[in-house]
Order: sequence, then C-alpha cells, then structure tokens
Amino acid sequence: MRSLGALVLLVLVQWSRGFEFVVEGDRVGDAGHRERHKRAFLTSEEEDFEAIRGDDITVKSYKVESRITSRFAHTTVRSSVVNSGSKSQSIGFNVQIPKKAFITNFTMNVNGIIFKGSVKEKSVARNLYSQARAKGKAAGIVRTNSQDMETFKTEVHVPPGSHIEFELHYQEMMTRKLGFYEHSLHLQPGRLVPQFQVDVHIYEPRGISFVETSNALGERFHGVTKVNSTKDKAHIVFKPTLQQQQKCDNCTASGVDGRFTVTYDVEREGVAGELQVSDGHFVQFFAPTNLPPLPKNIVFVIDVSGSMWGVKMKQTVEAMQTILDDLTIDDYFSVIDFNHNVRCWSDDLVPGSSIQVAAAKKYIQGIKPNGGTNINEALLRAVQMLLKASNQRLIDPRSVSMIILVSDGDPTVGEIKLHIIQKNVKRVMKEEFSLFSLGIGFDVDYDFLERIATENRGMAQRVYSNHAASEQLRKFYSQVSTPLLRQISIQFPEDTVSNVTYSRFDKFFSGSELVVAGKVLNTQDTTLTSFTTASGASLDLTLQTDTEIGELDAKLALQQHSFTGFARQMWAYITVNQLITERSLAPTAIQKRRITQRIMRLAVEHQFVTPLTALLVESEDGAERLLTLVYSKPPWAPTQVPPKDAKRPPPVIWVDSDPHFIVHLPRNKMEVCFNIDSRPGHILNLVSDPGTGTLGPGPHRYPRARSWSPQVPLSQVLVPTGLAVNGRLVGAKRPRADGKTSTYFGAISVFSEPDGVSVTVDTERIVVSEGGWGYNITWSASANITLHGRKHPVNVDFLGIYIPTDNRYSPRVHGLIGQFSTEPEVKVHHIHQGADPLKPEATMEVKGNQLSVTRGWQKDYRQDRNEGSDVFCWFIHNSGKGFIDGHYTSYIVPHLHSFLLWA
Ligand SMILES: *[C@@H]1O[C@H](CO)[C@@H](O)[C@H](O)[C@H]1NC(C)=O
Ligand SMILES: *[C@@H]1O[C@H](CO)[C@@H](O)[C@H](O)[C@H]1NC(C)=O
Ligand SMILES: *[C@@H]1O[C@H](CO)[C@@H](O)[C@H](O)[C@H]1NC(C)=O
Ligand SMILES: *[C@@H]1O[C@H](CO)[C@@H](O)[C@H](O)[C@H]1NC(C)=O
Ligand SMILES: *[C@@H]1O[C@H](CO)[C@@H](O)[C@H](O)[C@H]1NC(C)=O
Ligand SMILES: *[C@@H]1O[C@H](CO)[C@@H](O)[C@H](O)[C@H]1NC(C)=O
Repeated sequence: MRSLGALVLLVLVQWSRGFEFVVEGDRVGDAGHRERHKRAFLTSEEEDFEAIRGDDITVKSYKVESRITSRFAHTTVRSSVVNSGSKSQSIGFNVQIPKKAFITNFTMNVNGIIFKGSVKEKSVARNLYSQARAKGKAAGIVRTNSQDMETFKTEVHVPPGSHIEFELHYQEMMTRKLGFYEHSLHLQPGRLVPQFQVDVHIYEPRGISFVETSNALGERFHGVTKVNSTKDKAHIVFKPTLQQQQKCDNCTASGVDGRFTVTYDVEREGVAGELQVSDGHFVQFFAPTNLPPLPKNIVFVIDVSGSMWGVKMKQTVEAMQTILDDLTIDDYFSVIDFNHNVRCWSDDLVPGSSIQVAAAKKYIQGIKPNGGTNINEALLRAVQMLLKASNQRLIDPRSVSMIILVSDGDPTVGEIKLHIIQKNVKRVMKEEFSLFSLGIGFDVDYDFLERIATENRGMAQRVYSNHAASEQLRKFYSQVSTPLLRQISIQFPEDTVSNVTYSRFDKFFSGSELVVAGKVLNTQDTTLTSFTTASGASLDLTLQTDTEIGELDAKLALQQHSFTGFARQMWAYITVNQLITERSLAPTAIQKRRITQRIMRLAVEHQFVTPLTALLVESEDGAERLLTLVYSKPPWAPTQVPPKDAKRPPPVIWVDSDPHFIVHLPRNKMEVCFNIDSRPGHILNLVSDPGTGTLGPGPHRYPRARSWSPQVPLSQVLVPTGLAVNGRLVGAKRPRADGKTSTYFGAISVFSEPDGVSVTVDTERIVVSEGGWGYNITWSASANITLHGRKHPVNVDFLGIYIPTDNRYSPRVHGLIGQFSTEPEVKVHHIHQGADPLKPEATMEVKGNQLSVTRGWQKDYRQDRNEGSDVFCWFIHNSGKGFIDGHYTSYIVPHLHSFLLWA
C-alpha cells in the first residue's frame, strides 16, 4: 500500500526577519546579506504566485480560517487536491504569510497516510530526518514577493488519482497602527475552486468598536463578504460561488486574486488600560485616547546622494511637502540634507510656522541629488542641533525630540564602518532623543538602519521604492508624528508575575498600543493589578488596572471560535521577537549564543518555526520523515545547476545580448569574447584601479572575496589615480527564444577619486558631477563620447563600452576588463568542427585552465555606430569562467561608484 517512494516534499520558508546566518564577525557575510535582499526582490518580480500548482489537477476545496482573540491570530489554510492527470506529478501548495507571523504546524494527508508536523531545534530535526527510512528532498526557490508577505512553499510528487490534503497553521499578533488592527489574507487560488471559503472570527473581551473588510479583490466581490458582529464578537465570511469567482462571465479564470483585509478596533470607552489573564499568562494593553499631543522637535535628515536621483528623490520631496505641513507652531524643526557633504537648511531648530514650513519646502524642492553618502556626519550634526536647542533651553522639557533619517544606501564617505557609526551615534544621543530611520529600496543595509533606530528608542521601516514610496513615507511619519506620552512604565506588585516582556516604553504615539505580557505567579490572589505611570503634555499620569483571574477563561470556554491559548502564545511571540532584536544588538558572541539558546527553547516549546528551528513532518509510524525542513540556506546561494551539456556550444552567440565583452589581446594577436549571464539590476565592476594607495584593514584579508569600497575607507585606499568603472544591467523587454532574459548595460559610470568626479551615462543622458555640482549632457550633444546608446524595438536601450586595456593603469588594476591590462598567455589548439559547421570549436589554455571555446563573432560598434562591425573572437562559455579571475559574481558591486578590491 505504501507506495510512497516517489513522494517528495519541499517545505521552504522565506525569512526576512533580519536574521543572519553568517559566521560572527564575517563582514563579507554582511555584504552578502545586503545583496540577498536585492536579489530576492528581483526574483519576486519575475514570478507569479499560484496557491496550488500542478497541470492536471482538481482543487476540491480551499479554506482559510482565522481566529483572532485579543489581538492574537491563529490562521489555518486548508486545501484538498486530486491528481486528476494520467501521470505522476508534483503538486505544489504555496501560501503567502505575513512576515511577522510564525508558522506553527503543517500537516498533510496523502492517500490516507497522515503526515504531522512538529517544530524542533534545527539540528535535532535534521538528525531525525536523516535517520528515516524514506526521505523527501529539499529544493526550490523562495522569495520575498511583497513588502509584508513571505512565501511558504511545499511540493509533493504523487501518482495519478492521488488525494492530498494540505493544512498550514500560523500565528501572529496584530499591532495597532493609526487607530486600528489589520488582518490580511492573501487569496490567490489561481483557479476556480468549488468550495472556497474564508472565515475570520474575532473575539475581543472589551468589545469591538468597528469592523470592516476592504474590497481589494475588486468590484465583482461587492456583497460577497458577510460581516456578522455583536458587541464583543465578529464573524466575517467570504464564500464566493464558482460563478462569483469567475473573472468575467463564462470565464474559467479566477477573479479572486489579491488581499482580503479585515480591519477593526477595540472599544476603549475612555479606559486606557486593559488587563487580561488566561491560562496562567497575562496581557496588559495600554492605548489611552483624548490626550493632547506633546510638542515635538524634529530634525529631518535626508540622503541626497547620487543614488537618490530620480524617482526616489521625487517621492521623498512629495512626502516631505505633506509631512512639513503637519507641523504646528508648537513644534520645532530643521532639515539636514547630506551626500558626501552635510548641509543644514537652518543651523538651529525653528518653529513650525507657516513661513518657516514654506521656506523649508522650497529648499527641499530645490535639492539636486548627487555625490556620496556620509551618514555618520549627518547624524552627528542632527544630534548637535538637538543638543544645542536643549542647552539653550529653547525647547519645552516636556517635548519629544526626534531625528528622522531617510536614506537609500550605505555610507560611502567619511566613517563608513557601520558598527562605528552605530557607536558614534549612541554615544552622543541623549536619553530624551530618539532616532527613526526609513530605508528606501534594496541597496540599503536595512538591518543597520533597524539596529541604529532600535538602539536609540526609535523604529525603522523599509520603504519600497517601486510602489508609492511617498505614501509609505507619509504613513510612517503619521505613525510617529503625534506623541501623546513619554516615559511610560507598566509595573506589577512584587511576586504576582514573572517573565515580563519589556514594560518601559519611551513614547506612546496616537493610534498605537503598548503591550506587556508575562506569566502569572501561582498565588492565592483572585485579582491581578497593574500600575501604569507616564508623562503627558500637561500632567503626569498614574493608572491602576485590575482584573479577576479566571474570569476570562470562563468566558473563553463559552466561545466557540475563540483561540483559547492566545495569552500563552502571545507572551511567547513577544518574548521571541524581543530576543531576536536583542540578539542582533548583542555585543559579544557568548551573549549572542545564550540568546540563541533561549530563542530555540521558546520556539520549540511554543511551536514557532523560526530560522533557528525546523518543522519535521513525519508519517505516524515515523518511518517516513519527509523532508522536514525549514529552509535555512538563502535561496540565492549557489544551487547545483546541472551542467548544461558543457561540450555543446550554444546555438547562437547572442549578438547584442548579455553584456558581451571583447578583449583584444595584442601580444597573442587574438580577440577573446565572453558574456556575463547576470541579472537586471546587478552592477558589474569593469575596471577598478586603486592606484598606488595603501590598502586599509579591509576585506582583502579574504582573498578573492567580493569586496568593495563601503568596507574600506576610500581615503585609505586611493591616491589620485583611483578609478572605478561600473555598469548596471537592465533586462530586455521580452525574453529570448530560450526563455531567458537578456541583459544589457543600462548605465555605466566612471568614477575617480579623490577628486570625486564621476561621469554616469545612461540611455537618456550623461551626468557629469564633481563635488557638490553636476550637469547633464544629452546624447545629441555628445556624439564624441565613445559610449553609445541606441533604440531598438525589442532591445532596451543599452550601452556598450570600449576600454583600451593598454592604458596607464597601476599594476593593481582589476575588474572584468581591467584585469586584462596585464595580458595573459593564451594558447588555442585542437581546432575542430563544432555542432554548427560555421563555428569551429577548440581548446584554449589560459591561466592554467583548459577551456572549450567556440569561434564566433560579436558586434563591435566602434567603427560603424549603427550596424556595428563583426569581430571574430574565441568565445568563452559559462560567463567567462576560467578566462576571468574567479567567478563572475565576484564582480558584482553595490553601487555605480564602488571599487572592487582584488587582493
Ligand atoms: C499539527 O497538526 C496535527 C493535525 O491537526 C496534529 O495532530 C499535531 O499534533 C499538530 N502538531 C503539533 C505539534 O501541535
Ligand atoms: C450572527 O451571529 C449570531 C450570534 O453569534 C447568530 O445567532 C446569528 O445566526 C448570526 N447571523 C448570521 C446571518 O450568521
Ligand atoms: C455564457 O454561456 C451561456 C451558456 O453557454 C450563454 O447562454 C451566455 O450567452 C454566455 N454569456 C456570455 C456573456 O458569453
Ligand atoms: C522565567 O523566569 C525564570 C526566573 O527568572 C527563569 O528561570 C526562566 O527561565 C524563565 N522562563 C522562560 C521560559 O523564559
Ligand atoms: C538632468 O536632466 C534630468 C532630466 O531633464 C533632470 O531631471 C536632472 O535634474 C538633471 N540633472 C542635473 C544634474 O542637472
Ligand atoms: C573628441 O574625440 C577626439 C578623438 O577621439 C578628440 O581628439 C577630441 O578632443 C574630442 N573632443 C571633442 C570636443 O571633439
């Protein structure tokens, strides 16, 4: 019966909770982390999400149920699928879950055989898995596909006629923002499903003030959602019939494709605190209303480096217009804009009067981004400004002082070591100041922005530059723009509680909520009491909250659809998240390990799948432990791509295609060419010449590692000959016949240090900048420049670059092209006919490697700028492997102005 030989289960969970799996102190790892965000983003754009994958399958049902009790949600996603084809096949089950949620269980029923999940320490799970008789296999790609969701993926290979039931569980705490809680479910069944149903049950003991569902799924679903709510309960049902699911009349495509969102808030009736006890745990909520706002002192610190140029700056300017308008005459503010220099719109804080606001808006509108990124200097200047105002008693002692940093990239000028910047800022910040940071896009080391904000009593947020960045900026700002209380402390009488989560908070912002949880000690008491103290605009506040122990459990027992274990799980959820933050700030490896142990223990006890724990899915007798796994290896780590029949040459050499490099080797009297098979968005270093400067204590300690300027101060590296040439890839508008997307250089930059002159050429314009200024040259005015752009119906505008290698570079020059300024010895022998009679093949000996090469031709546009002229060359396969030093990915750098240090 148990013909499960072919059963393969893939369980992949994408983490983006800021965990690092790098060896402590390994800085290359940090850089890799940055790179990962970028790549994950790129992959996501290319792929379409489908909840159930398979060719000939019947999806019988798809059901989602959420039980929310006191802001804690347990969601179950179930689906029943039949392999209705005539062959064995892989059936995929994919769920998008909120990034803040923890998966708690996953089970499957395959033809009556039940597989149950349990969360274990990763090493334990791996061990058990390896001992099993029949194993599944892990593989696959995982991605972050939107700003707040991540994807859980599984796949089962089953014979025809098989019935499978999938069931996934996850839990998360709802955080109150701007006055409400939001519960989002991603519904993308990808097909019509006979039994399709979503149920959201909310139980809030204090009462529900409103509950709404959003209609992001579209007009067709008006009236399909039913909300039934009473004082303390709500039940939301979304159950479209087959006909209602249709995208259009008589369509077979599903129109259910988007986010289903339930928003609600809790009745507060002027009661600021709410204390609940259940199952030996307590949860204290604190969200007072009707308080006058505290005056605030804000320094906006805006990155205006070259990378902000374009849409990012435009959106920042847009957002700043509304943000500044929000200031009142009681607030004080200033604006600092920085690239490699730091400028202050006003050296002192000024009142938020309409005249000052108008002047600041005008100033921001006039900013032209260019140059490097000196975050350290800018932040120190902002702190100085607040200190000065505070020393001069200019600001109200009850006011709140904040720095809001908006940046899109890592520091490149001045102090660029992130941990030193972090230390510098922490040293000068005063207890009453806090730092909020917004990271735009994916080039920024978001973990750093988060660490520096958390450490200085603030928060961080990533802003996705692709969608409505200015709206995201404004929304973030409105969350922190109305501080109501300072120095909030929630305390309990001695010996009544233990294991309490953070109970002191720097600020309380309007529309948010403070939450403290812990264990209730076993005493004779029948009530639990908490005391909250805080400092407001005009008064200090003390609040006592009492609750009957056992009262809530009695109520919960009567509720059919409540989540009874909520308090226990909520306590663990908050504790684990706090530990994750502490882990990222832990100063020593020993402390980090200790925290890691605590996270693991709690995660196993409460069945949370974290990057430190894994889900073991096994058959009841334990004989079949299918690939249990939680994916820990980043999906972009080199995967075992089966060698694509290395002997056979590609059918065509893609002329005009993936960045093609033609290297002229005068001594060998030969042209060699290769393509780099990289991705759109990647920046490749073509030439890096650090000149004769001395190398600082930088990453060249890691021989052949990817290394670039942000890790080594330029001042330590460069002398006047320093030169970097980098190219950013863009993708073609349409994929090639072989399904891949060709890439071209969409922008090429030549950057020289220490004078900081850069010439950046893209398909639209050439921007020359030097120090603080820049100017544009349009293409028509620049016929003389050897770089060159064209238009083509399929090909996107692209640039070719021709860099003579016989130049006056220093011996340290490297880069994809620069390395050939020292010409390698090349021998070609055994020339024979290839698969294509027009393209002979041969063996090339170069740098101690034996390579199979193909005679081909590439276009050279130096002579004929429109048609190009054909150049015969020996083509090296596999992205120049063996001909270039190292792997081509070693040449990927983060910025157009990065140096590659090849040690
Ligand atoms: C996972 O779910 C299955 C099916 O509901 C259940 O039998 C099993 O006990 C759950 N695992 C844990 C650890 O709760
Ligand atoms: C609404 O909820 C109440 C109480 O739970 C229940 O009695 C009633 O049947 C529900 N109505 C509908 C339409 O589901
Ligand atoms: C849908 O199909 C029915 C039956 O085949 C047909 O009568 C009807 O006109 C179709 N409607 C549209 C909009 O095509
Ligand atoms: C709770 O606190 C006690 C005493 O501080 C400690 O020994 C125990 O490990 C804590 N439990 C958890 C789960 O953190
Ligand atoms: C270059 O031209 C573009 C488009 O006209 C403009 O937006 C940009 O500000 C210009 N840059 C500089 C440095 O003048
Ligand atoms: C253009 O290029 C030629 C040779 O490549 C050079 O002599 C000349 O100085 C360049 N500049 C202008 C403005 O023509």
